[in-house]
Amino acid sequence: MRHFSFLDQVLLHCDLARKTLLVQPTHHQRACPIKADDSDALSEKEKKHAAGLMRVNHAGEVCAQALYQGQAITARSKTLREKMQHAADEELDHLAWCNQRLQELDNHASYLNIFWYLGAFGIAIAAGCVGDRWNLGFLAETEQQVVQHLESHLGLLPENDVKSRLIVEHMRDDEKQHRQMAQDNGAAELPIMIKKLMQFSSSVMTRLAYYV
Ligand SMILES: [Fe+2]
Ligand SMILES: [Fe+2]
Repeated sequence: MRHFSFLDQVLLHCDLARKTLLVQPTHHQRACPIKADDSDALSEKEKKHAAGLMRVNHAGEVCAQALYQGQAITARSKTLREKMQHAADEELDHLAWCNQRLQELDNHASYLNIFWYLGAFGIAIAAGCVGDRWNLGFLAETEQQVVQHLESHLGLLPENDVKSRLIVEHMRDDEKQHRQMAQDNGAAELPIMIKKLMQFSSSVMTRLAYYV
């Protein structure tokens, strides 16, 4: 198996960051849950609202890429790194699906994605430096908050936006499994103050990304 030097790894992660932020990721490993004949009859107002919500979800998936990449760098255990890589591949599918849906809704990704990415990457490095149990604890709590957030979007999306709903439902089910993976591997329970801080920062992100 090829050994990557520190410089190799820095370059690889820069390339992953570039792909996450700049390339329109229509590539995905798993087929998008949308089927061609799913209903897509939305008024202009519904379309704009659905696009705002899907832009938030897309920004969340940009953060997920940054988190998993940062955590994969800092994880001590090789097995854990491999599990994180598997989850990161599924997150990449989510990113591609959200991107596809945004394009179908004639809208754009968040202009602030680079800031979401850098913020999430820095937090992931910090969590990983404390050790694998805390790294996993941070991951489990993030996924739990994402599941709650996606559940709330199922209540907010237009009833007849079947396509966005299918994507959000599929993502929610994956995020539940990512949380379970973190818990099965010994995630620590985070202090309540950290959880509140995470909720606050994600609420700032979701409010801004809905509009820009
Ligand atoms: Fe995701
Ligand atoms: Fe996830």
